[in-house]
Amino acid sequence: MHLEETLSEPESKESTPARKPAQPCVLVIFGIAGDLTKRLLYPALCNLGSKGLLDENFCIVGVAMEKFTTKSFQAQLTKDVKQFITDPAAKKFGLSLVRQVQYISGSFSDHAVYVELKNTLEKLTTKKASKNYLFYFASPPQFIGVIASQLNRVKLLTEENGQYFRRIVVEKPFGHDLASAKALNQELLTLVDEQQIFRIDHFLGKETVQNLLAFRFSNGIFEPIWNRRYIDHVQITVAETLGVELRGAYYEQAGALRDMVPNHLLQMLSLIAMEPPISFSSDYIRDEKAKVLHGIPILTPEQVLQQAVRGQYGPGKIDGVAVPGYRSEKNVAPQSSTETFIALKLFIDNWRWLHVPFYLRTGKRMKKRTSEIIIQFKSGPSSLFGGSELKEIPNILRIYIQPEEGISLYFNAKIPGPTMQLGPVIMKFRYKDYFGITPQTGYETILYDCMNGDHLLFNRAEMVETGWALVQPILDVWGALTPRDFPNYVAGSTGPKEADDLIQQDGRKWLL
Ligand code: BG6
Repeated sequence: MHLEETLSEPESKESTPARKPAQPCVLVIFGIAGDLTKRLLYPALCNLGSKGLLDENFCIVGVAMEKFTTKSFQAQLTKDVKQFITDPAAKKFGLSLVRQVQYISGSFSDHAVYVELKNTLEKLTTKKASKNYLFYFASPPQFIGVIASQLNRVKLLTEENGQYFRRIVVEKPFGHDLASAKALNQELLTLVDEQQIFRIDHFLGKETVQNLLAFRFSNGIFEPIWNRRYIDHVQITVAETLGVELRGAYYEQAGALRDMVPNHLLQMLSLIAMEPPISFSSDYIRDEKAKVLHGIPILTPEQVLQQAVRGQYGPGKIDGVAVPGYRSEKNVAPQSSTETFIALKLFIDNWRWLHVPFYLRTGKRMKKRTSEIIIQFKSGPSSLFGGSELKEIPNILRIYIQPEEGISLYFNAKIPGPTMQLGPVIMKFRYKDYFGITPQTGYETILYDCMNGDHLLFNRAEMVETGWALVQPILDVWGALTPRDFPNYVAGSTGPKEADDLIQQDGRKWLL
């Protein structure tokens, strides 16, 4: 067989292996009237449904404070489907699924709402709906404990002899610091077992993030050099061009550190740095990821000052369009000291990674929207090419998470001509070239896995707490020292100068 024949046909859109419909269940969404449902959850369900991946009796019950009836909510959802779903098959599925959506209006702390919910679920059973319940908390974080204990009060969290499942799905933020995350874990774990909880990090729903596992552990060529002997350093960047949009009130309390680091950035770091798992089952993978986080030394206050940089955007231009500074955004204090940017240097004290810096960076209103991981390998001996101007260019592996999706390897080649001149060249893999593009929200796998009880993409209690433990010293130092120089970067730039200094003082530079 020719090597070429083993490759997927470029543009072959149906290259995903056939999967079975998820286990039957009723999905109960708390906060169904919010943005998350119309932009992500419902479109994801429609993508699943149109591919035959939902049970035929799948239905939804929504609970929210907004004053809809089932009928008026269905009408609203129909409009949302038309606005937010473009794929024709998903749209068609979405319009028919609307009829299987029931709405309960009321406050999350009102006991009567849960009595009504229980009645509704019982009635649905007579119409062939499943007795498996998936409770999705798309509600403001302060209601997570309230909703869970109300569900418990009406006995909706009890798994009857293991016959039917009762699962809860919790969106981030999971707590706002180490103490609150611990308290929330404790509260939930008095009501349900760890196996019933699905703590979401939506970055793990991204194909490109999941591909990190496939890339590292299904190829023999990279793993032998995936360590401190060959890797100089790692950069993880999540840069956004958007500002805080309508989320000023939340963001003022959160800031870039809480919003992105203990979750999305540390998840990517642990996938890059973990040891090969003994098998691909969720517990083995999560064990290895957890070990990475445990290997990161907790920063001392002095190290926080040296290894963490914060920033806040002032007014500027994105793609030529003027945008306001953070302090002029809606629901943001005019003297706000909330950071919208963070750069951080971390180490992992283990055999594989000792002394290899991991530089993490994320910010709002940056020059370009891109999430990428860069692995910079150490340079080979340059003596052979002493005359070349490019002798210092190292090999780089660049993993594009979004919006571009793919992997590139940068290496040196001889520039054609009579003299030995080197130039960097790029080997490129792009998802779209091999697998086509299917519209995905990132929530498809997440929802499918919750329905099937697969925990691989979800965080265990102690993983969430370790993430918070790692950022807690930064929260403490920054909380104690008001930043004097905010705003310190212009919207549409690459962040504050201190972030460049952070990496340049080590003789390196940001490669994006
Ligand atoms: C969320 C953060 O978790 O992730 C947002 O709260 C951020 O502030 C978002 O914009 C980024 O995710 P994505 O999938 O849009 O890149």
